[in-house]
Amino acid sequence: MAFRARHLLGIEHLTPEDIRSVLDLAEKYVDLNRRTVKQSDVLAGMTQINMFFENSTRTQASFELAGKRLGADVMNMSVAQSSVKKGETLIDTALTLNAMHPDLLVVRHPSSGAVNLLASKVNCAVLNAGDGRHEHPTQALLDALTIRRAKGRIQRLTVAICGDVAHSRVARSNLILLGKMENRVRLIAPPTLMPPGVQEFGCEIFDDMRAGLEGADVVMMLRLQKERMDGGFIPSEREYFHRYGLDAEKLSCAKPDAIVMHPGPMNRGVEIDGIIADDINRSVIQDQVEMGVAVRMACMDLLARNLRAERGAQAVGTYV
Ligand code: NCD
Repeated sequence: MAFRARHLLGIEHLTPEDIRSVLDLAEKYVDLNRRTVKQSDVLAGMTQINMFFENSTRTQASFELAGKRLGADVMNMSVAQSSVKKGETLIDTALTLNAMHPDLLVVRHPSSGAVNLLASKVNCAVLNAGDGRHEHPTQALLDALTIRRAKGRIQRLTVAICGDVAHSRVARSNLILLGKMENRVRLIAPPTLMPPGVQEFGCEIFDDMRAGLEGADVVMMLRLQKERMDGGFIPSEREYFHRYGLDAEKLSCAKPDAIVMHPGPMNRGVEIDGIIADDINRSVIQDQVEMGVAVRMACMDLLARNLRAERGAQAVGTYV
């Protein structure tokens, strides 16, 4: 079994083998999650703490459900009511929690690199649930599983990632993952929303949506991340939708069987037309949410195996 790491901080550190093992194990959890009784004891006796220093609906709910279905004791630290608001530093908060012996720490933070720093200070497994504009590894893995199930493979596909690439950790993790799995990646964005230096990742760059979508197998839309913008990046939302919003006309430039993805939360009428988002023949947005729980179960299962091996503890039980 691949995936020997202590933490899951980014896609950058994973090999294609690691990625495949996560996806293969996640398939088993997709089946478990569709049963009436969704219980496994893979994390029985373990403690999982979720620390979200940024808003989240899907990711936090998904990590919480994933931990509970695997039998862990899950605690959601409510940052808004914690000592963080009294000025405690991230490291002090982490060391305090570390002293309570968690086994898995799931962290989302607005600063790029904060989760890596935290991981170096604690002796449990840390999962990055999104750090600034840096990485969001479980999102890229759940996207890969969604694509693999819809297209039958996760190689040799043309994937167009469109929108606010500059502020997006989702785009960055996907770009790295899709490149490692030998896909052709296109980034489509207005020049103001394209980060400098992306060419290094070996992707093609477009500022014209129709040209960029030509022949795409997968169309991945990104949210316009206004909370990370400190100036006027776009003339107006109306103008943005006109040029970069995914509607039926622009989608017709992609392959006829192209799938449409969005990590959520969506701004309907800004980056995507609600009709496309809800079109069950094209949109796999709800599948992404479903795959999210399974992928997070797989990641935590693999990290827990490594923890047990490292600590020499007996496995309490395994589902697969
Ligand atoms: C993304 C995130 O937080 O990076 N959302 C998510 O995790 N599903 C994308 C976004 O906020 O636009």
